[in-house]
Amino acid sequence: MKLALKDIRKVLILGSGTMGLRIGLQSALSGFDTVIYDIHESSFVSAKKIQQSILKQLIEKQSITDKEAELALGRIIFTTDTKSAANNVDFVSESVWEELSVKKEVWSTFADLCPPHAVFTTNTSYLLPSQFASDTKRSERFCAFHFHDVFQANVVDVMPHAGTEEWVVDLLMEMGKSLKQTPVFVKKESPGYIFNAMLVALIGAAGALVTYDISSIEDVDRSWIGNFKMTVGPFGILDAIGLDTAWHVTNSLGDPKSKKFASLLKTYIDEGKLGQKTGQGFYTYPNPAFMKPGFVNKD
Ligand SMILES: NC(=O)c1ccc[n+]([C@@H]2O[C@H](COP(=O)([O-])OP(=O)(O)OC[C@H]3O[C@@H](n4cnc5c(N)ncnc54)[C@H](O)[C@@H]3O)[C@@H](O)[C@H]2O)c1
Repeated sequence: MKLALKDIRKVLILGSGTMGLRIGLQSALSGFDTVIYDIHESSFVSAKKIQQSILKQLIEKQSITDKEAELALGRIIFTTDTKSAANNVDFVSESVWEELSVKKEVWSTFADLCPPHAVFTTNTSYLLPSQFASDTKRSERFCAFHFHDVFQANVVDVMPHAGTEEWVVDLLMEMGKSLKQTPVFVKKESPGYIFNAMLVALIGAAGALVTYDISSIEDVDRSWIGNFKMTVGPFGILDAIGLDTAWHVTNSLGDPKSKKFASLLKTYIDEGKLGQKTGQGFYTYPNPAFMKPGFVNKD
C-alpha cells in the first residue's frame, strides 16, 4: 500500500535527544499525533525542557500563538515502551545514536512492531541507509530523511538507497514541506548528503589547524566569523552538533588527520564536555565567548 501525505496521522520518533525532540516538536506543531520513544527515560526531562524553551522563542517571534503551542504539546506522548510506541503509527523518524549497531538493533525491534504500511526514515548523519535497510524488513519503504536543526536551519535531505521505491521519495518531499522544511533531493547515496559533505571538509580543516598546532580554537573561529560575517565558527558549530556525535563521524573517517582530531574530541568527551547540551564544549554555555561583543576584534 502506497501512502500519501493525507494518510499520515501518527508519527513515531525514535530517540529523544537533540534531534528527536526537535523533529517530534515540529511534527506536533504540524498537526501530527506524535510519539517520542527513547530507551532512557531520563532523557525526557531535558527534551521537555528544551521543547518548552523552543516554543517560548517561537511565541516571542510571533511564529506561533500560545494556543498552537499548547495544542502541539497536547499531541506529544513520551514513552519507553516499544509496543505502545509502535501502535498504529504511519511514519517513523529515527534519531538514535550515530552507531551502526544501535541503528540496526532499533530498526530490528520496530520492524516487527510497527504496522506494515508505515514508512521508515532515518536521520543518520554519515551512515548510509543501505547499511541497515535490511534491518527495517521493508527496505522499499525506507529512506534517509535528514534534518539539520529543524527550527534554525530548516532544510531536510531526502536520500533514497538503491531499493527505495520512487513514491516514498515523492512522499518525503511533501512531508518535508509539511514539517516547514526545505526538502532537497540527493539523487543517490552519498556520505554527508549535501550540506554535511561541505561541512565535514570545513570542520576537518579547522581541526587540523588546531591539532597540528598551527592556530588556536578561538582564532580559527575568529577567522571564519570575521571573513564571512557569520555568527559562529567551526568550533562553535561543533559544540552545537555535540562533540560525541562529531567524534563518531571523525573517528570513522580513518585518515591520520581525522584520527588526530578524533583524539582531541575524545579528551573533551572524557571530561563530560559534549558541547551546548552539557553546557561545556570548546566554549561555555549559555553566552559562549564567540557571541560576546569584541570576540572577533579581540577588544
Ligand atoms: N546533532 C545534530 O546536529 C544532528 C543533525 C542531524 C542528524 N543527526 C543525527 O541524528 C541522530 C541523533 O543525534 P542527536 O544529536 O539527536 O543525538 P543525542 O545523543 O542527542 O540523542 C540520541 C538519543 O538516542 C537515544 N538512544 C540511544 N540508543 C537508543 C535505542 N536503542 N533506542 C532508543 N533510543 C536510543 C539516547 O538515549 C538519546 O536520547 C544521529 O544519527 C545523528 O547523526 C544529528
